[in-house]
Amino acid sequence: MASLRPITRLAPRRTHPYCAVHLRRHFATASDIRNPTAEAAATQHQQQQRSDNKVKIVEVGPRDGLQNEKKSIPLATKIELVERLAKTGVSFIEAGSFVSPRWVPQMDNSSEILEHILTKMVSSPVPITYSFLAPNAKGIDNASALLQKHTGAYITQAESFAGAIAGDKPAIELAVFAAATESFSKKNLNCDIATSLEKFKDVVQGAKKLGIRARAYISVVLGCPFEGYDVDPHKVAEIATSLLEMGADEISLGDTTGMGTAPRTQELLKCMAAAGIRNEDIAMHFHDTYGQALVNTAISLERGIRTFDSAVGGLGGCPYSPGATGNVATENMVYFLESLGMETGIDLDAMADIGQWISKELGRPNDSAVGKAVLGARKTEASTSSL
Ligand code: HMG
Ligand code: MG
Repeated sequence: MASLRPITRLAPRRTHPYCAVHLRRHFATASDIRNPTAEAAATQHQQQQRSDNKVKIVEVGPRDGLQNEKKSIPLATKIELVERLAKTGVSFIEAGSFVSPRWVPQMDNSSEILEHILTKMVSSPVPITYSFLAPNAKGIDNASALLQKHTGAYITQAESFAGAIAGDKPAIELAVFAAATESFSKKNLNCDIATSLEKFKDVVQGAKKLGIRARAYISVVLGCPFEGYDVDPHKVAEIATSLLEMGADEISLGDTTGMGTAPRTQELLKCMAAAGIRNEDIAMHFHDTYGQALVNTAISLERGIRTFDSAVGGLGGCPYSPGATGNVATENMVYFLESLGMETGIDLDAMADIGQWISKELGRPNDSAVGKAVLGARKTEASTSSL
């Protein structure tokens, strides 16, 4: 972890402008130990690293977080979740999925969610890109019918490259999802990997025609529920290369099962680098089934990755990955990154409130340790200040 240390030492304490409650958080970092020589070296290093300090969080709660819930969730709750998240400072939200409702019934009203985003000017402190999964021609047709109906209601990729801040207009992104093993591809997509890649061409090219970003997931990169731990990282790199050549803007590497460990995360990312895949084209998507998501995040950070997927309240699971639990909680991710002096732009207090609210709505326990601790600390502070 040597290369993370300088960032850690002199990390500026950030107070978020949208933070309703200003609790002073004391992260246990190396900055607590004052050492002038080390500090001088760290200052120099920090200047070099500052531009490298920003982390992009993709909040996947409304899609990955909800898709596996068995009880039908009202559309109003899904929209309220998206609207609440939009106020936290997060700039990427995965909001739904244009998949077969027979396969994933919970995502059936994603059209209504996209239409809401395109027509209702969801308020947010920063511009937001909303992402939707689409695995095939039918998925892109359904999404593009809505996007064409509301042409001009969203910002295109060219406009955002040109630096246009188009009022409150959202950006939209479509995401395909390949698998690193044949067994998982068949279970999740009902076809083999090669056929899935052919189908994704319709989506990626369709997204480009609409002028929007295309994301591409690769699932089970660190362990498959059907084929075990030994997923070939070279196969992952080969699929990633095909997706990038197809026109994907970003590859999200999915540890769907949470079977990933630090050494194997390291090995995977080394293999991606050896295949010529740039860190800025990679996102990491960790499920936290074995509690390794933040350890694997630290390894990824050290290798230069700066985009991470997470879900508020630790929601989530894939219907075709038996036994896998939620995504790493956004609250845990933000707390961890900020303890290292990295900037996420996200209001942790607001995120903790949302985690508590949505867990209650779903009738499940809040799965974010940090979320619960933040709410607990707030309660304690409120009770001591009223004495
Ligand atoms: P299929 O049965 O082979 O498809 O499923 P088909 O082409 O034979 O069509 C069957 C029926 O589905 C037809 O309807 C189609 O119209 C309809 P019918 O004529 O019988 O009434 N259909 C669709 N309807 C709406 N939208 C569509 C669509 N496509 C077909 N896009 C298919 C193939 C890909 C559709 C199916 O396997 C599917 O929907 N799979 C999605 C599974 C899924 O969503 N899994 C969860 C997301 S991935 C994930 O969570 C992992 C991730 O988080 C990363 C990680 O953690 O690793 C991303
Ligand atoms: Mg997932």
